Amino acid sequence: MKVFRTVDAMQQHARSVARTGRTHALVPTMGALHDGHLALVREALDHADHVTVSIFVNPTQFAPDEDYESYPRTLDADREQLDALGVDAVFAPSVDEMYPHHADDTLAGPLAWVTVDRLNETLCGRYRDGHFRGVTTVVTKLFNACRPDVAVFGEKDAQQLVILRRMTDELLFDIDIVGVPIVRAPDGLARSSRNAYLSEDERAQATVLSDAVSAARARIEAGEQRAEAVVGAMQQALRSAPDARVQYAEVVDAHTLRPVDTLHPGQDVLAAVAVFFGDTRLIDNAFVTVPAA
Ligand code: PAF
Repeated sequence: MKVFRTVDAMQQHARSVARTGRTHALVPTMGALHDGHLALVREALDHADHVTVSIFVNPTQFAPDEDYESYPRTLDADREQLDALGVDAVFAPSVDEMYPHHADDTLAGPLAWVTVDRLNETLCGRYRDGHFRGVTTVVTKLFNACRPDVAVFGEKDAQQLVILRRMTDELLFDIDIVGVPIVRAPDGLARSSRNAYLSEDERAQATVLSDAVSAARARIEAGEQRAEAVVGAMQQALRSAPDARVQYAEVVDAHTLRPVDTLHPGQDVLAAVAVFFGDTRLIDNAFVTVPAA
């Protein structure tokens, strides 16, 4: 497995992959790999002849009060896991490589940003100022550095996936976006690098997130069409964790990400929650198609 640290070296490699006629899949990650990431990698291996995994903790998607500094960085262990899976290349650039103007005082840092409007205003976007601008900007840079034909993302970050699909479509990137269902621990908790921050007690309580989205799915599939009742079922599940601080529990249209009052037969909706345990913020969701009446 090759490891590239610079954009130049990665681009040269991508060109050589393309020259040999092989298809190239990219799995963008921030490292601290867990089973959820490995599922993305397996999907990528199924989709393309050559797989690159990028590992970059992207500073621009963290707000000043978030966990950029403490975010787990486990590059050696990550490399071993990827090598064992048969990944061809790892792209692990520095901040200087990805943001060449980040320390530029003349015009105060980077000037070029990629933004997807409106879809970034609801759910996590309402609470994480600038987060999705950081994600869309870095993913654009990763696309330019790695030049993939396919890029694979997890459905756990559902809003991110919807935004990245729209960005790829509107900006005419010639890249297929593949979404992979959430990977869960046996008790239902969605795999996340941030689960490592939870105390034993918080970890035990954190199953309420998956209980909440399962309750939402069950209510919708049983014919409930009042979003208020679906949200009520999620809130009831979340109340059983005494230390959970709920940031949001919502049902939105899966394409526009706008809140819905009444669910319509055939509509694709997203039931989503964000919950704090102490300083640790966890999210979970379910994409559901409303059944015919
Ligand atoms: O989902 C993530 O891990 C990140 O948001 C991503 C897509 C790698 C961009 O930094």
